[in-house]
Amino acid sequence: MKKQYYVNGEWKAAEKYADLYSPYSKEVIAQIPQATLEEVGQVIDIAYKARKQMAELTAYERAAILENIAQLFMENRQKAAEIISLEAAKPMKFALGEIDRTIETYKFAAEEAKRLTGEMIPMDAAKNGANRFGYTIEQPLGVIGAITPFNFPQNLVAHKVGPAIAAGNTIVLKPASQTPLSALFLAELIDQTALPKGAFNVVTGSGRIVGDALVTSDKVKMITFTGSPGVGIDIRNKAGLKKVALELGSNAGLIIDKNVDLAQIVPKCVTGAFSNQGQVCISLQRTYVMDELFDAFVEQFTAATKQLVVGSPLDEATDISAMINRDEQDRALSWVQEAIENGAEVVAGGNIAAGVFMPTILTNVDATLKVSCQEVFAPIVVVNRISSVEEGIAAINDSNYGLQAGIFTNDIQTAFKASKELEVGGVMINDIPTYRVDQMPYGGVKESGTGKEGLKYAIHEMTETKLVVWNQN
Ligand code: SIN
Repeated sequence: MKKQYYVNGEWKAAEKYADLYSPYSKEVIAQIPQATLEEVGQVIDIAYKARKQMAELTAYERAAILENIAQLFMENRQKAAEIISLEAAKPMKFALGEIDRTIETYKFAAEEAKRLTGEMIPMDAAKNGANRFGYTIEQPLGVIGAITPFNFPQNLVAHKVGPAIAAGNTIVLKPASQTPLSALFLAELIDQTALPKGAFNVVTGSGRIVGDALVTSDKVKMITFTGSPGVGIDIRNKAGLKKVALELGSNAGLIIDKNVDLAQIVPKCVTGAFSNQGQVCISLQRTYVMDELFDAFVEQFTAATKQLVVGSPLDEATDISAMINRDEQDRALSWVQEAIENGAEVVAGGNIAAGVFMPTILTNVDATLKVSCQEVFAPIVVVNRISSVEEGIAAINDSNYGLQAGIFTNDIQTAFKASKELEVGGVMINDIPTYRVDQMPYGGVKESGTGKEGLKYAIHEMTETKLVVWNQN
């Protein structure tokens, strides 16, 4: 029950502790160390000291460590998923899916570690470049501060720890306050590998203490953060000249053109809108359906949504369970109430039953309402009518966010137009905006953030490109 934090390859008791509650049962599930400023400072010092040894590992050694982590997750798949399910109320079927993705993420990191190359520079292309031989090398930055969210407590951690190790960096990980157990379990697994002591450390506690200490320390060379825009902007303002990668969420949109097959699309929309209770940065939040299909889509989408199984996250039949905490649930409910007061129609859900926010579909929602223009991060989806694809593109672009968008269409010109004009980091043709596999570049524009995840891209963010020029004159 009483956990310790992980530093320098050892478990350490903390000065202060806080109870961790299950979001579903509301029972205390553990006592979690709440690091003090002094304790975080000591951990940063350890990671800083370990950076030289880490930087000296060969690509072969770094890849072997990452493969070993993937293997340990394969051996502990069920246990790792149960931890996620317990602390985040993620239904087991999705928690198991997350562990499968985590395994792939570490495998991709292992592969990328072996192809971390620089490039030849054609020096003699310049008037003064004759008889010079130039190339770049990718060098690790040193200490990476990773601040991770509750919604994918293993795989979004893997997206920071995997590339950091692949590039030869050391890490101080600060997991979300609600999901420290997954990060501490990762430490248990990493402890069994050949990673040098001090190269991976986990500090739990409040964002204001641990997060701020990482962001403001001169010894930390990069912050990689996934979370809310408010916190992301605060990090950027405090980080000075540190590298910063920010993945900050969205109100992802989808266009459904005429003449498409709703039978194929509707189940995808149910998954996109409601998996992990809609607490996904690319969750389907705004759906724009062409006039011709609007009524049929709403009817089929509502019917399919009402089939979802609501209950305990630990039950493998469950599709929808509790949101992460009471405050978030209350906030989401107040946004639905605001929409109703302003003319929206509730066609499914809109209420809380047995502690679970029921999957909610709203139609006829004005673009200025919070459920549409802000990131809802709850099982709520808006479905509005459009009379042209152009109207749908304009509606999706009318947002402070731009992470991913989707369009279902049978018209190739329409697909090209959407991919060109949608102001987002990724366009999914004939898929929901929620589609992601872990090697693809992932990151947004506008308030959705800066920098890309996806192993190859994240590794590049976590290295410094150094130029070497030999003069043969
Ligand atoms: C996120 O919420 O940003 C991650 C989504 C995913 O990895 O599927």
